[in-house]
Formats: sequence, structure tokens, C-alpha cells
Amino acid sequence: MKEKEILLDQIANSLSLDEIEQTRLDIFGKKGVLSAQFATLAKLPADEKKSFAASVNETRDILQNAFDTKYASLKSDALDIQLKSEAIDLSLYENIATRGALHPVNETMNKIIEYFVSLDFSVEKGPMVEDDFHNFEALNLPKHHPARDMQDTFYFGDGSLLRTHTSPVQIRKMLSAKPPIRMIAPGAVFRRDYDITHTPMFHQVEGLVVQGKGEVSFANLKSIMSEFLGYMFGDIEVRFRPSFFPFTEPSAEVDISCIFCKGDGCRVCSHTGWLEVLGCGIVDSNVFKAVEYENVSGYAFGLGVERFAMLLHKIPDLRSLFDGDIRLLEQFR
Ligand code: PHE
Repeated sequence: MKEKEILLDQIANSLSLDEIEQTRLDIFGKKGVLSAQFATLAKLPADEKKSFAASVNETRDILQNAFDTKYASLKSDALDIQLKSEAIDLSLYENIATRGALHPVNETMNKIIEYFVSLDFSVEKGPMVEDDFHNFEALNLPKHHPARDMQDTFYFGDGSLLRTHTSPVQIRKMLSAKPPIRMIAPGAVFRRDYDITHTPMFHQVEGLVVQGKGEVSFANLKSIMSEFLGYMFGDIEVRFRPSFFPFTEPSAEVDISCIFCKGDGCRVCSHTGWLEVLGCGIVDSNVFKAVEYENVSGYAFGLGVERFAMLLHKIPDLRSLFDGDIRLLEQFR
């Protein structure tokens, strides 16, 4: 068979598994060269068959041998390439045991709690699923009171709700204890709000001090708030602005001089030089009535922990605190 040399060349020149497969079909396939030879054999006269068959068989064995050798070598090359491409570089060093850190909200919360605990405040807790009485009614926010609109509440169908502030913990504490009271209530609160300075869940720290009639004044409140803000923010100025909360009278919002521009005016403080950081006031007599306290006086305050954390760490978007992005969190190690 004169094609033999050509076919051996084709085998030798097959450079990939795809090419050798094509060669296999060309030679050994149903429509391949050898099939054609055997078809020819069938048509030969009987006396020529024997020698023709011997020659075809011999050629087939030679081709098969050459094919097997070539196939094995291509197969092993391919395996080498695959093993190389899948190899794991054991020399690549990764430090798996990294040190964790407190989330900036927890860290700020702890700092606030430590301050008030050092001044003998107790730390109180209350449920996040509240009822109308504790979240609103007892805080001098009767139904249809316009101030309820200030807080976009998440309601459950059965009339319960997610607390919109930590103030209901004041009510729970006063209903379960006798004055004097000196407490803070840190915890998560919920409002239907979502933008660069609001998330639907955030944290507050509430404060409440109740003593005998005439024993607690606005001056006490002013002094403790000023000291506290100095402890948190360092060398800043503090100012009290008259404000309104249904559960305190009189009420104030407290500003600090802008920690970014030192009061000159910048984007963060809307060019006012001041940053609002908390609300407070003298406990309204209607609140004491709701918990049946008599002959007492008190002050209360409430602050947003995320706001403090944002200012302390110069975090521009409050929502990023809750994305769980390791690249943000790593900056606080
Ligand atoms: N509960 C108020 C709020 O969420 C804050 C506050 C608490 C104000 C206590 C005064 C006294 O906005």
C-alpha cells in the first residue's frame, strides 16, 4: 500500500489530541483508508485475496503501532499542561489569622456606655417589638398627636410596632422601679428612612435621671451633657438650642462646634459651624403621670450612636456601616 508512508507522516505530524483524533478517523474509521482496503479485498478474485490481506494486515499493524505511540505521547503532554495550569502555588503566603476588631458602632456604643457607667448610671434593656403605650402614649404622644409623624413607624398588623426610639425603656424602668432612677438604655431602634444619613435600623442611647421634686434641674442636664460631649469629641464648643419633644419640657437640641472645620463652616455642617448631636430636656409631668410617679423631677436625653460614630471616624455615608464590607471594617482595626 503506497499510502503507508503518507499515513505514517500524518500520524507523526499530528500535534494535538484533536489532530490525532482526526488522523484516527482518516485511517481506522468506518470511512477510513483501512476500511476501503478491506472493501477492495472483498472484491478480489480468490487467488489474490490471501497476499493482499496479509499486506493490509501488516500495514494496519504498523499504522496502529505508530498511532498508539503518538497518541500516548500527546496524551501525556496534554496531562502535563493541565497539571501545570491547575497547580497550586504553595509558596503564596496568606495570613489567615487576621485580628478582628469591634464594629465602629459597637466601639462608639461602648465608649458612651463606659462614660455613663462611670457616673453610676445603670444599663437597662427593653424589647425591640413594642406596643403603642410604651413607645407613644406614656411618652405624652396620644393618638393623633401630630408629633407622631416625626417618626416613621414600622407597624405589625396586631398593633405592635418596632420601637422608633429607646425612650420606651424609660417607661418600662419607671413602671418597674421606684425613684431615684439613674439609667441609660442603649439599643437598636427602627424607622422607615433610608438615605445617606439614615438607615431603617440604627442605635440610640437613652438617658434618664429621676430624683425627688426640685432635686434635678436643667443646669444639671446642661452640665452633664457638656462634660459628656467633651469626653467624646475633645476640645469642642457646645450649645443648647430650644426644641420640642412631647416627653420633655423644656426641651433642647444640643450642637457641638463642627469637628471638621472647627466652626468656620463646611459641607458637613451645612456651613453653620455646628453639628446637631443629641436631644434632651426636663421630663414632662405627663410622663410622670403615666407611670404614677409623684413629687419627682428628672431629665432625659437621647442620641444616635451611628451619628457619633460617623463624626468620630469621618465616615461620609451612614449606610456603609451596615454593608458588612470587610474593606471598610479593616480600617478600624
Ligand atoms: N427619643 C428622642 C428621639 O428619638 C430623643 C430624646 C430622648 C429626646 C430623650 C429628649 C429626651 O428623637
